[in-house]
Amino acid sequence: MDWGMRNRLARMFPTGSGNTVMLAVDHGYFMGPTRRLENPRATLAPLLPHADAIALTRGVLRTSVPPEAMTPVVLRVSGGATVLKEDLSDEAITTPLKEALRLNVSAVALSIFIGAPHEHESILSLAKLVDEGEDSGMPVMAITAVGKELEKRDARYLSLACRVAAEHGAHLVKTYYCEDFSKVVEGCPVPLVVAGGPKLDSERAVFELAHAAIHEGAHGIDMGRNIWQSDHPVAMLKALRAVVHDQASVKEALDIVAAEKQRPATSPHVAAA
Ligand code: R5P
Repeated sequence: MDWGMRNRLARMFPTGSGNTVMLAVDHGYFMGPTRRLENPRATLAPLLPHADAIALTRGVLRTSVPPEAMTPVVLRVSGGATVLKEDLSDEAITTPLKEALRLNVSAVALSIFIGAPHEHESILSLAKLVDEGEDSGMPVMAITAVGKELEKRDARYLSLACRVAAEHGAHLVKTYYCEDFSKVVEGCPVPLVVAGGPKLDSERAVFELAHAAIHEGAHGIDMGRNIWQSDHPVAMLKALRAVVHDQASVKEALDIVAAEKQRPATSPHVAAA
């Protein structure tokens, strides 16, 4: 692996744990102004210093992140369908690699839709992006998207999807946590990070997910709604960092959140209430 590629990966995995805490704020590219991400700049500002990387589109990067920010960027480069369409798999590469280089990002990310109507096109897009990424020293993260079919999130399906991503050259794969997640890890020869999915019922459930994922071999999280839809997003992010980097238990994570809640509110949503 060339120096540039290694350097970009090292920026996203900065601590001794070998893991990463990515903050996902790319939801608007197909969902529009998602709850509590209506104003990305306001949502992001207090969270930026606590994330190892942020995952977003070029539009939100240019409009809502100060160029002085040192947080590494994972740039989503696929799109082309919205929640108003039945088939979310109708995506293509919407942002060229030249633009990713111009924006000085640390990785590019695209969704692949295994088993969906546009599976073929999404796999070819991944392969093309990997070719370009290898030429330019740009890591590629494949996202095993399930569209509206959240029930697809089981070990059999995700193992297949993650393996297909790795076989086509992805340097990193974002997937979902599931029962028997260690089987997904075992079958995927590149690092996996897990998304959070729609907001869970409790803080405990979020930490249990992250703790189990790390314990079973994930190299981090790339989480969105369970952080910034919380009334205490900074506290959630700090507690998740402890789980991902310091092997904190679920109870320790809950204690961190409890302590953080005693501090003045940093969520724009709580402050405005
Ligand atoms: C889909 O919109 C994106 O890939 C998200 O970045 C991903 O689902 C992670 O966000 P969340 O934790 O909210 O599911």
